Amino acid sequence: MKNRKIMIMPGDGIGPEVMDATLKIADWLAKYRAFSFDTQFGLCGAVSYEKHGVPLTDETMADVLACDAVLFGAVGDPRYDDLAFELKPERGLLRIRKELDLYANLRPALVFPPLVAASTLKEDVISGLDIMIVRELTGGSYFAEPRGRETRAGVVCAFDTNLYSVPEIERIGRVAFDLARKRNQKITSVEKANVMHSGVLWRETMMALHKSEGAGLDYENMYADNCAMQLVRTPKQFDVIVTDNLFGDLLSDCAAMLTGSLGMLPSASLGEVDAESGMRRAFYEPVHGSAPDIAGQGKANPLAQLLSLAMMLRYSFDMGADADLLERAVEMALASGKRTGDIMVAGAEQVSTDDMAGAVITALDTLAR
Ligand code: NAI
Ligand code: MG
Repeated sequence: MKNRKIMIMPGDGIGPEVMDATLKIADWLAKYRAFSFDTQFGLCGAVSYEKHGVPLTDETMADVLACDAVLFGAVGDPRYDDLAFELKPERGLLRIRKELDLYANLRPALVFPPLVAASTLKEDVISGLDIMIVRELTGGSYFAEPRGRETRAGVVCAFDTNLYSVPEIERIGRVAFDLARKRNQKITSVEKANVMHSGVLWRETMMALHKSEGAGLDYENMYADNCAMQLVRTPKQFDVIVTDNLFGDLLSDCAAMLTGSLGMLPSASLGEVDAESGMRRAFYEPVHGSAPDIAGQGKANPLAQLLSLAMMLRYSFDMGADADLLERAVEMALASGKRTGDIMVAGAEQVSTDDMAGAVITALDTLAR
């Protein structure tokens, strides 16, 4: 089998710092585990603008398309806030998302025992929590036509359309089913079939898909408002939640906060299966941005980036055992009392970005050498 290719795009601000820390851990994996990839580095964001005058070159975009997965840092730089729209650093990221047609956004909510106290919820509600929200990302009320603003009978109105087609629902459903198979075999499909036509079609289509392609998976339907309540009441009842763009936006932020800090949250975005490689297009990035307020000071928490690498191993490369190992090492590093500033608590030891990575490597050495 030919070597898998990974595109590494550190980006701006704390992006390069958290990526460097993560690559040290990738080096550890290369040395002690069967982790063998061809890696390529690409510029995106302000770094690309400074070198090439655009936030992403056509050549880099072509390189991205030729890779099996992208590990991305963050983009954005306040020095370029006044640039023309097309030249802004964020445009580079949006172009990649669009050209890869990343229609499935995956946001895990995973609670590490040493950070249980950082959640606003009670310990027994969230300890051991591990759920995944799969949000449809390219359709529904943020994109579907018609949308706009007009004056009707002298009154100003604005409207959006929550339109979904059967193929759009099926393709996000398949992503969620695939994930559930790599996790705890349970799917909760979320909509408002009680009050929305798009919700009725969503439910019918998901149930048909479960019947035809979901053998062995536990399946349930849930109304979105109830899901919001259940997420803060008994979040551990869920494994994979699949939902549309609008509900997914709200529910994924809600689920994220079950776990505490922005510096701990990874994400993945997936597209179609590539005909040539047989692999699903995949893009992995922390949820946080470039954090210009702390960039260049060694303060950034590298764990969201590192956990994004773990997601890549699990979901693109079927290396679930290595992903588990990384997550256990993160937990052990936290349990040793080391904390970056964003997750600092009384009695813990505040460390730099590199020292946090070092603590993870120490944990890896303990766990697997
Ligand atoms: P942000 O996520 O960069 O920062 C929000 C706050 O969280 C800041 O106080 C920051 O210091 C802190 N923070 C974020 N990540 C952290 C980490 N790993 N460790 C410790 N503290 C962390 O969001 P903000 O400030 O709204 O945006 C800053 C820039 O990032 C903007 O240019 C924005 O457009 C861009 N951005 C880029 C994203 C991406 O590349 N996907 C996503 C969100 C924002
Ligand atoms: Mg949001």
